[in-house]
Amino acid sequence: METQNLFFFSLCFFLFSLLTGSSHHHHYQLHHGLYGFQPTKLFVFGDSYADTGNTRIKNSSSWKFPYGITFPGKPTGRFSSGRVLTDYIAKSLGLKTPIAYRWTNYEPDHVQYGINFAYGGTGVFKTLLPGPNMTTQIDIFQSLINDGSPIYNTSDLQSSLALVTLSGNDYSAYVAKGGSQTFGTTENGAKPSPISSFFVEIRRDLETFINLVVNQLKTNLERIHGTGVKKVAVAALQPLGCLPGRTIQNSFQQCNDTDNKAATYHNRLLTEAVANLNNGTNDSPFVILDLYDSFISVLQNKSGSVKFETPLKPCCLGISSEYSCGDIDDKGEKLYTVCENPENAFFWDMYHPTQAGWHAAFLALNSPL
Ligand SMILES: *[C@@H]1O[C@H](CO)[C@@H](O)[C@H](O)[C@H]1NC(C)=O
Ligand SMILES: *[C@@H]1O[C@H](CO)[C@@H](O)[C@H](O)[C@H]1NC(C)=O
Ligand SMILES: *[C@@H]1O[C@H](CO)[C@@H](O)[C@H](O)[C@H]1NC(C)=O
Ligand SMILES: *[C@@H]1O[C@H](CO)[C@@H](O)[C@H](O)[C@H]1NC(C)=O
Ligand SMILES: *[C@@H]1O[C@H](CO)[C@@H](O)[C@H](O)[C@H]1NC(C)=O
Ligand SMILES: *[C@@H]1O[C@H](CO)[C@@H](O)[C@H](O)[C@H]1NC(C)=O
Repeated sequence: METQNLFFFSLCFFLFSLLTGSSHHHHYQLHHGLYGFQPTKLFVFGDSYADTGNTRIKNSSSWKFPYGITFPGKPTGRFSSGRVLTDYIAKSLGLKTPIAYRWTNYEPDHVQYGINFAYGGTGVFKTLLPGPNMTTQIDIFQSLINDGSPIYNTSDLQSSLALVTLSGNDYSAYVAKGGSQTFGTTENGAKPSPISSFFVEIRRDLETFINLVVNQLKTNLERIHGTGVKKVAVAALQPLGCLPGRTIQNSFQQCNDTDNKAATYHNRLLTEAVANLNNGTNDSPFVILDLYDSFISVLQNKSGSVKFETPLKPCCLGISSEYSCGDIDDKGEKLYTVCENPENAFFWDMYHPTQAGWHAAFLALNSPL
């Protein structure tokens, strides 16, 4: 545990150092962590917390105004007012944000910083929205490497970091199906329901499902590392009970503890899985990015960076529960309201942080655990 904490701290501090342009990492000689490891490429797998433009234009809110109003001023397929986790991680490594795979022509200048396979709405299993699950995302990556003329060679992969996000779409689907996830069917195009009252208590069947999700995630992490990628950073589940989709019930006043306990349970299993994957390795290739603690510390003003006045209240909100941020009617009239300054809000819509929110949460990852 000790080593792992040190490793985590090293990673965070390393990311922070690069982000702030400080060069402290040159002065330290640590045996663990990312010190001394300067990835030249970033490969990204997961969902809307990391997606930078893979979702289909027609179906996805991420391609609708006002998504992207802070950066770059128009929608780019990011589920935010602007930059997301991927952008901050890439920047902290001194890399450009890797291209979203559906926009790449696989020419060297397109793929030199890596590739982003993350796809909004997806999970490790089948979810409520169409899109490649994490297994399929890794399949695509693997086929690029195993190709007759692979675009990445072994030494490229040895200087690569993978970022993996899993922010709860499996659980939304599970809840929407009344707790009977059948891995083979999907209501194509259906809107994801808010994480609902199913988390009222951690019921045994939910517990079992969380175990299945984390086991599948573990398999995926191992596969990614097995391709030759040197380090794999996986996001812990954010506090689900603090998402506006949940706190709307109490007018965005307080987080739902029951849901947060479910997220904590997921994270406990993930911590065990990562410890198990690192067991016996000499370079601890797997590391957790603790979005749970970082979200909480920002929401509770403990992060030392930006303070948000009403941190649980989203900036962009449907005018009624039937509508979402970005919806318009037949005449093009807005069916949502958007706050005056998205930079003053932590949450953007019912599930996702604003750019300011992501920036603060990213910076809050630096605190040692
Ligand atoms: C991921 O999706 C593919 C294609 O739909 C499917 O064959 C596979 O079983 C899915 N994987 C998991 C773990 O659900
Ligand atoms: C691997 O490919 C990179 C370009 O992506 C090239 O600079 C490097 O020389 C190659 N290394 C080997 C061992 O082929
Ligand atoms: C868009 O949503 C519709 C259902 O509303 C679904 O049938 C279709 O497959 C989706 N298209 C894409 C490209 O995901
Ligand atoms: C959490 O959500 C459940 C289900 O909606 C509700 O019964 C419970 O009162 C909530 N708890 C808090 C502290 O808001
Ligand atoms: C690490 O491996 C040892 C020996 O196989 C085992 O006893 C121990 O439980 C493992 N620890 C974890 C965290 O998996
Ligand atoms: C956080 O700080 C802001 C600005 O100082 C304040 O308005 C807000 O009430 C604080 N929130 C908490 C939970 O302390």
